[in-house]
Amino acid sequence: MLLQEEKGLAEKIDETSKFLVPFWNSAKIGVVLGSGLSSFTNEISLFHSIPYHEIPYFPCSTVEGHYGSLILGELGNVKLAVLSGRFHYYEGYSLREVTFPIRVLAKLGIKTLILTNAAGGLNLNFKPGDIMIIKDHINFIPDNPLRGIHDLSLGKRFVSLTNAYDKKLRDLAKESAKKLKIQIREGVYSALPGPSYETPAEVKMLRVLGINATGMSTIPEVVVARQSEIDVLGMSLITNVHTKDASPTHDEVLETAKKSEKKFCRLLIEIIRHLKVNEAHAASL
Ligand code: HPA
Repeated sequence: MLLQEEKGLAEKIDETSKFLVPFWNSAKIGVVLGSGLSSFTNEISLFHSIPYHEIPYFPCSTVEGHYGSLILGELGNVKLAVLSGRFHYYEGYSLREVTFPIRVLAKLGIKTLILTNAAGGLNLNFKPGDIMIIKDHINFIPDNPLRGIHDLSLGKRFVSLTNAYDKKLRDLAKESAKKLKIQIREGVYSALPGPSYETPAEVKMLRVLGINATGMSTIPEVVVARQSEIDVLGMSLITNVHTKDASPTHDEVLETAKKSEKKFCRLLIEIIRHLKVNEAHAASL
């Protein structure tokens, strides 16, 4: 029973990839856009925009601020595959469903993945609108997308997360921010299952554990990307800060994201521009 289910996952990935091949732009870089960050897609010269509901086996995003489309296009000659809208554990999806699009991008040849999210700041030096590069994470979602019968064709059974957030990509993000004179933070991210926000006692606990920002996503995608040997850059937009009397709302999250998304997009564009330079450099070696 389980064995058949697992076999089914690889077959579904195959089927979805085959569906996407006629649209595929040979992108090597994937981007996942978090809550309120979808305007990045306006920067892209569009080849194809495929709504998730038209893609076999893709779940459909149910959250306001998450528009569900796979965008295939180009940014200054760099080919990109952008997942505009993501799936969350709190929507009721299994982590296998949440990470299915990442597996499909891996199958289609993505080598670098930029994961973005909205997160609540725990570090009291952070301000709403800050951008944090994720250095490491602590997972509180009570599951792992790799759990279950293992299919070797999808990657290793036991996946190292020691350098899950690629140092070179983090350095590139820092250099890009410096160039644009954007203040940048770096820290540890945690994901709780949600959708309720953290209690004050949980906030205290997370802080004690050395966590700088917390959200409800990204970590399952990182795990699958690393199993697929994709280099990962993770970036959080701090939409709210857990000060003593804070009581976050989704509207506040979306509002801060809206205010800061231009800055976030500028940084993303700069990073991607340099990724291209690095790729060309690697090719010429
Ligand atoms: N907690 C969890 N997820 C979030 C938050 C938060 O404070 N802000 C944006 N996403």
